[in-house]
Amino acid sequence: MPRRARRAPTPGDAGGDAPAPDLAVNAREWTDKQIFWILKHGVKYTGMPGWAAKDRDDEVRRMVAFVRLLPEMSPATYRALTEVPGSGTAGPDAARIAACAGCHGADGRGRGQPDMPVLGGQSPAYLRATLEAYATGKRQSAVMANAAATLTPAEMTRLADHFAAMPGIGATTPNGNVKAARIDREGLPKVQLPACASCHAPGKPYPVLAGQRASYIAQRLRNWRGDETVVDARKSQSTMPVIARRIPEDMIDPLARYLSGQR
Ligand code: HEC
Ligand code: HEC
Repeated sequence: MPRRARRAPTPGDAGGDAPAPDLAVNAREWTDKQIFWILKHGVKYTGMPGWAAKDRDDEVRRMVAFVRLLPEMSPATYRALTEVPGSGTAGPDAARIAACAGCHGADGRGRGQPDMPVLGGQSPAYLRATLEAYATGKRQSAVMANAAATLTPAEMTRLADHFAAMPGIGATTPNGNVKAARIDREGLPKVQLPACASCHAPGKPYPVLAGQRASYIAQRLRNWRGDETVVDARKSQSTMPVIARRIPEDMIDPLARYLSGQR
């Protein structure tokens, strides 16, 4: 059980059927910790649910930052951040694509957001499998679970093909970080870290990393490494969590930048 943070003043205090808290007004009076707690656990008696994905405190923290901006945000800024830009696509999936584009951009490049993967150029089979993993909860993300939950299997296939076919990742000009290059090509035999390129290379059934956003790569690796306080036996033994835990902490960011091709 997480320790209960100091309780925020919520409508729950007033009784059963008070309206939901107006975050745009109240965010000013609450600490980041209080808003985090409300978003993570929901508000008792009001029907506001807790965050849908466990182990994704990073998602909750980003939402706290957004809520924090609300009191000062102009309606125009709010619309720019939340509304769906025209996707320019017609056809049966136009509405779906427009919804994805609200976060991923009509060009699949993620609208410059640091936590957003580039979808263009990614393996279509990987994108398809990932959408299903989000929908079933096999891959935890409250944000993407929501977006994937109502897709039919045929829509998942078409959306994966649509975004994968766009220009995006796939090519890089490797920077000169020798240590990162070695981990990519040879791994670190001393700590049984395999070479990234032994799986992540063209023609293999694994996601493309070359040219992916560095901040997103680093975020995924850190998420797989998990909370330092969780004992090893309870951590996931699937491939990438095990690999991510073997990467030296001071190499996560350099390796992510190397793979993405940034200097
Ligand atoms: C509210 C914002 C939002 C919407 C809407 C959204 N996504 Fe995402 N998407 C994200 C975020 C954030 C991630 C990274 C999640 C994570 O950490 O696992 C992501 C990840 C993904 C991934 C995984 C990519 C990878 O490299 O592993 C795929 C595929 C994807 N989204 C497809 C879609 C599709 C298709 C739609 C529309 C049906 C959609 N998304 C709608 C925010 C969104
Ligand atoms: C044995 C094969 C294998 C090796 C070696 C490997 N990976 Fe992976 N990697 C995978 C698989 C499989 C996935 C897809 C996992 C999933 O969907 O949950 C993946 C996914 C990823 C992703 C997420 C991509 C995305 O779009 O979300 C990153 C980042 C990543 N690997 C980084 C690395 C790094 C860095 C190394 C080297 C230190 C490495 N991998 C070595 C198999 C491998």
